[in-house]
Amino acid sequence: MERVFSGMRPTGRLHLGHMAGALTNWVKLQEDHECFYSIVDWHALMSDYASPGLLAANTREILLDWLAVGLDPEKSVIFVQSHVTQHVELHMALSMITPLGWLERNPTYKDQIRNLQNKDLSTYAFLGYPVLQAADILVYKARKVPVGEDQSAHLELSREIARRFNNFYGEIFPEPQTILTPTPKIPGTDGRKMSKSYGNSLDIADEIPALDKRIRTMMTDPARERRTDPGDPDKCPVWDLHKFFNGDAAQMDEIAQGCRTAGIGCIDCKKMLIAHVVAQMEPIQERRRRFENSADDLADILRAGADRAREVAGATMDEVYGALSFLR
Ligand code: TRP
Ligand code: SF4
Repeated sequence: MERVFSGMRPTGRLHLGHMAGALTNWVKLQEDHECFYSIVDWHALMSDYASPGLLAANTREILLDWLAVGLDPEKSVIFVQSHVTQHVELHMALSMITPLGWLERNPTYKDQIRNLQNKDLSTYAFLGYPVLQAADILVYKARKVPVGEDQSAHLELSREIARRFNNFYGEIFPEPQTILTPTPKIPGTDGRKMSKSYGNSLDIADEIPALDKRIRTMMTDPARERRTDPGDPDKCPVWDLHKFFNGDAAQMDEIAQGCRTAGIGCIDCKKMLIAHVVAQMEPIQERRRRFENSADDLADILRAGADRAREVAGATMDEVYGALSFLR
């Protein structure tokens, strides 16, 4: 089976946008790939080094979200990056051959420095963010990396770093290919892209009554001011959520038709959406609660994941140290 690697930074609870995009894709990949999924705490520290207090709690939350949506430790290797020290070792080895110019030109780096003005990101480590990301992937010799479009530049850098390392020291690393995650449009309650920083998100862990309330007060097609005004589903964020959560094609036709003719009201439309969201989220939340109440199981999952990851990563590092002519 082809090997897959992907990672997420532990910055807090995940929302329905993460679920509809990355996680749905990751869950599918488990069926016919050897998947390594890592909670990349070192990467989180690169931007949150000034206040790391929530790292452990955030790592636990993201693990619970992963398990809840169906990432399965029987099928995939699920682990925390810092538990497998080979990531950091390979990061150092790759740092030797990575030209500064490649990192300084990285468009994501420039964006982040501009966007996160409240954090001082002009550190040595943050410039090297893509080098650690390359190490994450290459230490497992992963062939496929499922990520969103925003990570394309980083993946291109990973390939360039692999190529340059191989040129210096011999063919050790296969070049990892990007698998672009299909991302259904999941708007938040205000119609903008769902994002924790906008405060518009519906979280995987949100209690059903909270989800219900947030959807009932969600923005709709602004042209539909009164119940009697016709609307356009294509201009409505509620409709975008229907497209992901509502599997009932006949009902979808009814809603679209009813919206355009003012035959149904937005409240009715939202009630139908809520029913579908609840049906999908209830078993997920049930699974989350089960894991939440078994700290031992969580620790076992992470221990077993790190053990398996270390086997593979350790073998790669033996090769790397050999290629670098270190005395072993
Ligand atoms: N940079 C990725 C993100 O912010 C997270 C990440 C770290 C990652 N290491 C990785 C993704 C390796 C894929 C492969 O989303
Ligand atoms: Fe949106 Fe539904 Fe209202 Fe149409 S009926 S505007 S799709 S909430």
